[in-house]
Amino acid sequence: MSTALITGASSGIGAIYARRLAARGNDLVLVARATDRLEALASELREANGISVEVITADLTNASQLQTVLERLRSDPMIDILVNNAGAALVGNFASAEPEKMDALLSLNVVAPTLLTSAVISKMVARGNGSIINIASVLALLPEYSHGIYAATKAYVLTLSQSLAAEVSGKGVYVQAVLPAATRTEIYERAGGDISKVPDVMEVEALVDAALVGFDRRELITIPPVPEVEAWEAFEHARGVLAAGFSNSEPAQRYKSS
Ligand SMILES: NC(=O)c1ccc[n+]([C@@H]2O[C@H](COP(=O)([O-])OP(=O)(O)OC[C@H]3O[C@@H](n4cnc5c(N)ncnc54)[C@H](OP(=O)(O)O)[C@@H]3O)[C@@H](O)[C@H]2O)c1
Repeated sequence: MSTALITGASSGIGAIYARRLAARGNDLVLVARATDRLEALASELREANGISVEVITADLTNASQLQTVLERLRSDPMIDILVNNAGAALVGNFASAEPEKMDALLSLNVVAPTLLTSAVISKMVARGNGSIINIASVLALLPEYSHGIYAATKAYVLTLSQSLAAEVSGKGVYVQAVLPAATRTEIYERAGGDISKVPDVMEVEALVDAALVGFDRRELITIPPVPEVEAWEAFEHARGVLAAGFSNSEPAQRYKSS
């Protein structure tokens, strides 16, 4: 008996998570704005898998609609998997970005996953089980590659996942950050981009299937396109080397003269 709440389940990565988790026998709560798409997916998945699927129409950038989803999470002890997937991109430079669009992107990519997680985490810790899947991006590690605030929102999701895992993984709660690279979904067109100009695009089914292998292995960080896991391990090792220098009460010698 396991129920997953998936945000952004009406298309792309979220819709494939819904299909795959349904096939594993999870009951589902599907969240997005497009009710018709959610309802169509829900009835197909109920029929094919004999599971219960609920639909919540919510714009997660709208405080009162987000509140509805938060209440649902707080009041339902059966939800033991939260997939923070809903997200959008913003094409263009920081200098020319409209503040209202940046505000909406921060609400969707940063505030919503943070508050949704906070609505379930204490119950998961008290129960000693539960999983949070956060969809970040490889751009979290490659901010120079993308102008504007999108990469920074995804770096937040990665950092939150790492810090949350440090807090709750010893208490039976599993946190995974998935870092897709270019994946064939609607996100480019929605942001005014053109996916046909992007090289090396992964198919969305392959991305989610790989992410679920990482989930089953209880990986903290899953980066499906990276061929050698040693590359990630070397990156983490370098972080540890750097961190060893943080515990000095004196500035480094190179800063002692101008
Ligand atoms: N595709 C890639 O190349 C790629 C790479 C790295 C990371 N990602 C991340 O993957 C996640 C899923 O994106 P995707 O690629 O699958 O794109 P997508 O096909 O555009 O899906 C985005 C989903 O989020 C929902 N959504 C958008 N705005 C929303 C809002 N205001 N309130 C509630 N739901 C909203 C959309 O549904 P409605 O329109 O029905 O609300 C849709 O279900 C995002 O977090 C994205 O940053 C994608």
